[in-house]
Formats: sequence, C-alpha cells, structure tokens
Amino acid sequence: MGVLEDKVVVFTGAGAGIGRATVARFVREGARVVAVDISASVADSTADFGDRVAPVVADVSTWEGNTKAAGAALQRWGRIDCFVGNAGITDGAAPLESVPGDDLPRAFGELFGVNVLAPLLGVRACLDALTESKGSVILTGSYASTHAAGGGALYTPSKHAVLGIIRQLAYELAPDIRVNGVAPGVAPTRLKGTAALGQGATDSVLDGTRFALPLQEIPDVDAYAGVFVLLASDESRVMTGSLVQADSGLAVRGIARPGGRVTVEGAQ
Ligand SMILES: NC(=O)c1ccc[n+]([C@@H]2O[C@H](COP(=O)([O-])OP(=O)(O)OC[C@H]3O[C@@H](n4cnc5c(N)ncnc54)[C@H](O)[C@@H]3O)[C@@H](O)[C@H]2O)c1
Repeated sequence: MGVLEDKVVVFTGAGAGIGRATVARFVREGARVVAVDISASVADSTADFGDRVAPVVADVSTWEGNTKAAGAALQRWGRIDCFVGNAGITDGAAPLESVPGDDLPRAFGELFGVNVLAPLLGVRACLDALTESKGSVILTGSYASTHAAGGGALYTPSKHAVLGIIRQLAYELAPDIRVNGVAPGVAPTRLKGTAALGQGATDSVLDGTRFALPLQEIPDVDAYAGVFVLLASDESRVMTGSLVQADSGLAVRGIARPGGRVTVEGAQ
C-alpha cells in the first residue's frame, strides 16, 4: 500500500516535465489524480496511468480553468485531498533592461497569470473540498523563490511571490489545510517562454550548470517526486508554511569551488 493510497489530487502543469514525472509517482503511491495542463497532449502523456488519472485540458490562469479541474475531481471521485499548483512559464532569464517598457505590462500579466495568479485560483477553487478533507496544498516554487538570478526580472519576483502565497495561506488556512512548497534548483525540461516577449520554449538547463551545482549532477525530472510525495502524505503532518529547498546545494555553493570536495575539471 502506497503512502498516498486513495488520496484525490488536482495537479496542474501535469502534462510534461516535473509535473508528469510526479503524477506517475503519485499513482504508484496509490493516488487518483486530475492531471491539468493547457496542452491537449496531457491526455496522451498520462494515458499510461489508466483510470487513476483523469486528464483535463485547461488554462489555469483563468477561474474557469480551475473550477473545471476541481469539478472534474469532485464529479469523478467526490473529494479533493491535495491541490498541487505546479504549472509555470519562464521569462528566459530576461533582464529588465532587455524588455521594452511597452511590452512589460503584457509580459507581467502573462507570466504572473500562470506563476502567481493560477495557484491562488487553484486553491480558491478547491477550498471547500480541501477544508472538508482537511487536505493540503503544494506549490512549485524555485531556487528563484529565495535568490536572484534563478530567472529574469519577471520570473524571480513571481517565484518569490509563490513563497508569499505559501506563507500567507498556511496562516489563513490553519488548522484545516496545510500549505507547503517545493523549490527545485534545475531540471532537464523545456519550460514555455512568455509569448508577450516573443519567447518559445527553451531548455531549462544551460551549458555548464552541472559544474555550478555542489552535487555536480543535473537531476532527472523525477528527482523531485519524493519531496512532493512527502508533502502530500500524512508523513508531513507537522509541516505547514515550508518551502523545501531541493536545489542540489545551490544555496550553499562556495566561491572558489561549488562544494568542498568538488575536484572535477570544469567546476566553476
Ligand atoms: N525545470 C527547472 O529547471 C525548474 C527549476 C525550478 C522550478 N521549476 C518550476 O517547476 C514547475 C514545472 O516546470 P517544468 O520545468 O517541469 O516545465 P514544463 O514546461 O515541462 O512543465 C510545465 C507544464 O505547465 C504547463 N502550463 C504552462 N502554462 C499553463 C497554463 N496557463 N495552464 C495550464 N498548464 C500550463 C505546460 O504546458 C507544461 O506542461 C514550474 O512551476 C517551474 O517554474 C522548474
């Protein structure tokens, strides 16, 4: 029996990358998952998981998208135990001076719509059901939730805001609903860019990144799943308001060498 046996989870950004890999693990742990993504391919990419996963195509930066996702869980399984707000887009690490002032309001609205507004909408849409189940919320933050230069002038503030949401909602919703987050360092995905900046999808891992990490390895997309499982399970019942750093040691990297025992050539 898995640690998430029969928990019902609404999971956004489930069609690719960290989300898809984590949904696979949730299913192995016994969960039933509404897998939400703006990409219609979410139905194909979650087909392997059988009837324990219900794909929903929705834009989570809209209220309708979130009520559709919550409604699917309630209609199919009658409850929601966990909401995971994981969908995200990037600004391609664009510095402020590279963004024309005219484009900034639209780019801000688009990126903050997915990275910041969507988790608020998702929690709001699942609120009654989570209160009833005494459930939990998990939001995907980032190394950029607590540090500069994990993204650009829009992404970094948006991920700092995710930490603000975690802390504020953990307070507001206690003692009924726990609210925590996972802050990945890097993962080999292709995050969508900000259309208002003319950006497409780009590789999340840049050349040389491996050598900057104290742990000296680019983690697989499924490397974060265990942290999500912990936060979704009753094993973390004493945790709320926490953002779990899962950053391969980035927050403790050294100046001369990334890690005390790092000797490989190319270390930066
Ligand atoms: N890859 C990294 O290095 C990294 C590092 C730190 C944090 N993160 C965060 O991890 C999360 C997952 O990203 P990933 O790297 O797996 O990228 P990904 O692009 O593989 O997955 C993100 C998913 O979100 C979906 N999505 C985007 N906008 C949406 C919308 N409006 N409505 C519904 N779905 C939408 C995409 O279609 C995609 O399937 C994001 O929040 C990202 O910011 C990623």
